[in-house]
Amino acid sequence: MLHVLGLSFGKKNANCDILCKEALYGAREAFPDAEIKFINTQRLKIDRCIGCGACSGALEHGKDNKCVVKDDFQMVENWIRWADSIILVAPVYVLQPVGQFKNLVDRYSCRHDTSAINWVLDKRRTGEMPGNPDDYPQERLRVKSVSYVSVGGATTEDWTSMGTCSLHLFGYPTMMNVVSNYNANSMGTIGNPYLKDELIDHMHEIGKRTAQAYGKDRSEIEYYNPKDGDGICPVCHQRILTIERTGTNVTCPICGTHGTLSIEDGQIKVNWPASEFERARGTFKGLREHTVEIQSFGSICGPKIMANKAMLDEKMDSRVKKFDEAIGALTNEEADIPWNV
Ligand SMILES: Cc1cc2nc3c(=O)[nH]c(=O)nc-3n(C[C@H](O)[C@H](O)[C@H](O)COP(=O)(O)O)c2cc1C
Repeated sequence: MLHVLGLSFGKKNANCDILCKEALYGAREAFPDAEIKFINTQRLKIDRCIGCGACSGALEHGKDNKCVVKDDFQMVENWIRWADSIILVAPVYVLQPVGQFKNLVDRYSCRHDTSAINWVLDKRRTGEMPGNPDDYPQERLRVKSVSYVSVGGATTEDWTSMGTCSLHLFGYPTMMNVVSNYNANSMGTIGNPYLKDELIDHMHEIGKRTAQAYGKDRSEIEYYNPKDGDGICPVCHQRILTIERTGTNVTCPICGTHGTLSIEDGQIKVNWPASEFERARGTFKGLREHTVEIQSFGSICGPKIMANKAMLDEKMDSRVKKFDEAIGALTNEEADIPWNV
């Protein structure tokens, strides 16, 4: 039975909830027997990743890579793991998705990086790392289908400029297949999604197609964005580019695909070599590039740090740890700032 999860980061029963629930109705129409769950995260406590490394350390020591920060995150993660298809809807707060979404990405997505986990499991198989490779539940890494809806008040795209592209960060580490990435902006003038039939129709179609995409190969899934089209990046369909300081090379900052820019008949064009598609961030090859890079950090930094240990210890003691003595610490009184400063 298909499992569909709706995740809304907006206020209870407000725009994100409405759009997410309408997409779930679309999924229900396509799959009457699907099991469908909905979570509104607004009142949940999802703290930031504290960068402690306990998760990756545990994996490398033969255990599960649990997050040690205890809050509502574990519950949300369990439902994400349960889902085959996900509809994720988040409001734009200051040009980007609300911060709680990023907390979830930092704690869920990195820990489910398909390449990084398989790297460790392969080392368990060869005996280079402790642990039983079969202990890791492989179903966690099955390829899910996902659609993203970014909800903003502003009528202009420049006030929702990093909404859809940032939502894409949720699913690429687990190589989720993205069906749609929709900018539901203009909510400040639309008033309520039910006042715009087209928007509701789009949500139904997104929900239906996202559910239908589960189990399909990426090549069989047609990207669906009836409002904004296919975008510029052929892989993640976003329209933002990093332009190199010299020359004509550009990179999609979201999926890392490289291309070259030109102007033809007054139109900006980007040529994306097909060879780049297979190393985009959401592919195994693209993720593996990063795993290999991370694995090299220790052998590069370790000798440098050891060779300079005495100097670094002295700097850390005299400048960083004794900073409060030298420059001044925040006193208890200063921490207790009056409301009207
Ligand atoms: C702190 C804050 C910042 C916001 N920043 C933006 C923004 O930069 N661009 C925008 O289009 N809307 C912005 N909004 C509007 C929300 O995206 C909009 O009200 C949305 O409908 C909220 O989702 P909800 O109705 O599901 O709670 C902001 C809202 C808040 C509370």
